[in-house]
Amino acid sequence: MMNNNYEPVRLEDNRLFLLDQRKLPNHMEYLEAATVEDVYDAIKDLAVRGAPAIGVAAGYGMYIAAKNDLNQSGHIGGLEQDGEFLMQSRPTAVNLAYAVKRQLKVYEALRDAGTSEVDILQKLLEEAVAIHHKELESCRRIAEYGLSLLKPEMGILTHCNAGGLATTGYGTALGPIHLGQERGYNFHVYADETRPLLQGARLTAWELHQSDVDVTVICDNMASLVMKEGRIDAIVAGCDRMAANGDGANKIGTSGLAILAKEYGIPFYMFVPTSTIDMDAHTGEDIPIECRDGEEIRTMWYLEPMAPADVSFYNPAFDVTDHEYITAVVTEKGIARPPYSESLRKVMEDSHV
Ligand code: MRU
Repeated sequence: MMNNNYEPVRLEDNRLFLLDQRKLPNHMEYLEAATVEDVYDAIKDLAVRGAPAIGVAAGYGMYIAAKNDLNQSGHIGGLEQDGEFLMQSRPTAVNLAYAVKRQLKVYEALRDAGTSEVDILQKLLEEAVAIHHKELESCRRIAEYGLSLLKPEMGILTHCNAGGLATTGYGTALGPIHLGQERGYNFHVYADETRPLLQGARLTAWELHQSDVDVTVICDNMASLVMKEGRIDAIVAGCDRMAANGDGANKIGTSGLAILAKEYGIPFYMFVPTSTIDMDAHTGEDIPIECRDGEEIRTMWYLEPMAPADVSFYNPAFDVTDHEYITAVVTEKGIARPPYSESLRKVMEDSHV
């Protein structure tokens, strides 16, 4: 198991702590999310981010909400509303709804069976831990499957952060890179800085550097050049929600990389735990794309404005990569290949591909 010192989500003495990723790479600070409102704010403001990590935080968030209810009123009430509230924090990553729905299913079944509130609370805690452990295990398997697609010394391009910070343990798209490092693969990784919030420069570069991976940060607009120069043998990207036909939403800019990869004959792999597959979304058209405040473009993080105050900004946080540009989808149940409507159905039916 990967031994990193930066768990994005941590439960200690039944209190929830989140690594404040807005402060990285300069400061490593945990914040306590003591209420469901704190969890909502931490997700919305990107203290915790990355699809699986958001789901794990939301799973614990539901437990925290129930615990506070029970302590304050002697009764767990309003968990459905708390779940609705959490699901509104960010719309694109389906892991959030996945975790909330798992918790509500546990709660409703036990409540209807007349289980005591103290026992329900205990089960909600156990379910949150199970969601967390499932993601950890998925990342480990995804890392193994992903590594089977790669060869030592390869040049690999990645976008945003789909590592341990965005998930747990090895991460998804960065999983085979971390695992390859442990096994002496000596990859040469190019990390897109990932405007506007710089998850690539701040988080991926930091995370890979911690693991002694050879990582080079590039501006997003350099990706085509590094591909043309022959530096890139494979592109690895995470996913926030994959539709049943294999269209996958990920950080804004991902789809452009996939289109370029096709032009340059470079394989484009998407790393997608089953908690990120939404079979109710038929195509990418059904995936809601979060649009964030334009201020993120204007001021970035902690800096002076870089554009006039009164111009408009358009700040979609994700885009959808059409399935035709995705060479393979790496899940914890194996590597899905086109046609994805068939291979993903198999994955979700619980069989291996
Ligand atoms: O806005 P973010 O930082 O939450 O966006 C994260 C991504 O786009 C990741 O690539 C995605 O969540 C996959 S994480 C395994």
